[in-house]
Amino acid sequence: MIIFALETSCDETSAAVLESSRGDLKLLSNVVSSQIDIHKRYGGVVPEVAARHHIVNIIPVAAEALSKAKIKPADIDLMAVTTGPGLVTSLIIGVETAKALSYAWKKPLLPVNHMYSHIAANFYGAKIAFPAVCLVVSGGHTELVHLQSYRRFKKIGQTVDDAAGEAFDKVAKLLNLGYPGGPAISKLADKFTDRLQFPKIELPRPMINSNNYDFSFSGLKTAVLYAADKIKNKDEDFQIAMSHYFQQAAIDVLVAKTIKAANKLNVKTVMMAGGVAANRKLRQALSLEAENASFRFLAPEIGLCTDNAAMVAIAAYYLSEKKKVPLDNFKKIATDCNWELK
Ligand code: KG4
Ligand code: ZN
Repeated sequence: MIIFALETSCDETSAAVLESSRGDLKLLSNVVSSQIDIHKRYGGVVPEVAARHHIVNIIPVAAEALSKAKIKPADIDLMAVTTGPGLVTSLIIGVETAKALSYAWKKPLLPVNHMYSHIAANFYGAKIAFPAVCLVVSGGHTELVHLQSYRRFKKIGQTVDDAAGEAFDKVAKLLNLGYPGGPAISKLADKFTDRLQFPKIELPRPMINSNNYDFSFSGLKTAVLYAADKIKNKDEDFQIAMSHYFQQAAIDVLVAKTIKAANKLNVKTVMMAGGVAANRKLRQALSLEAENASFRFLAPEIGLCTDNAAMVAIAAYYLSEKKKVPLDNFKKIATDCNWELK
């Protein structure tokens, strides 16, 4: 079976082709056109600007995905598109393009939830031992998800304010590191050594001991602001130290809560997903704690953590396994900002 997928939930225009043969999945292409350089100058994603660039990019990106995969539209068995959550102005470009192509090519179209796609990136090339818990950390979401199988899952906790990626982005702005903040903070934090002549910065670990699986990052961000206010010389050493101490505080909370959930729910596997799952130190820390506690650990390869259409195609494979998608399904599809899978 050949699956063709489109993703435009935020500022990446992406198209991918996935081939499945008796349960073995193989990515034939995954084209991602990033708008980071465009949004950099605004310090964050401007929804209308993102939408206008999706309009320009979507057809060339789709054509490139087909050509890299060496397939023609006629070879496609199933199409998939991200319907939400995300920026409505961005989503609508992918959704309407996919609907038009589905009608023109006479191929069934499946709507796919963006958060489920992030989780499904873990399924590529792996056989999951269920039950599992997945830490989903992106620019818009921070959630713990309990999975009973590939298709049955439940959100058990979430951030009560900022998402983890949002906190990385806001702290980076505060440290003058530009956009997107996550990669910039992680790169600087990697330069931290004990030899750095910089006094230790004490930062809180919000909700680390709370009696639930929820998170909070806005207090941590404010603590960084207050700590930075007290430091006169805002040189590179300051940026390195602050990036390190902030990143460590965020990681401590994310790892502690995930392991707590894994223990309580008696799962077999601990997974992670979303853009922040590209963070090397977070991957190392969660993998170490999970394996110490005898859980299997899984994380998508780095290129499948941030937004891309390959994860949408993988998700579509698992969602369509037991259902036939009718040819006129495109008539029912609209953007949908709800997390829950229907
Ligand atoms: O999943 P994603 O690409 O888009 C959303 O669905 O939100 O996640 C983007 C987020 C941004 O906040 C970005 O700063 C963060 O992921 N991110 C990282 C890293 N790479 C991307 N955060 C920490 N460390 C990284 N290496
Ligand atoms: Zn995402």
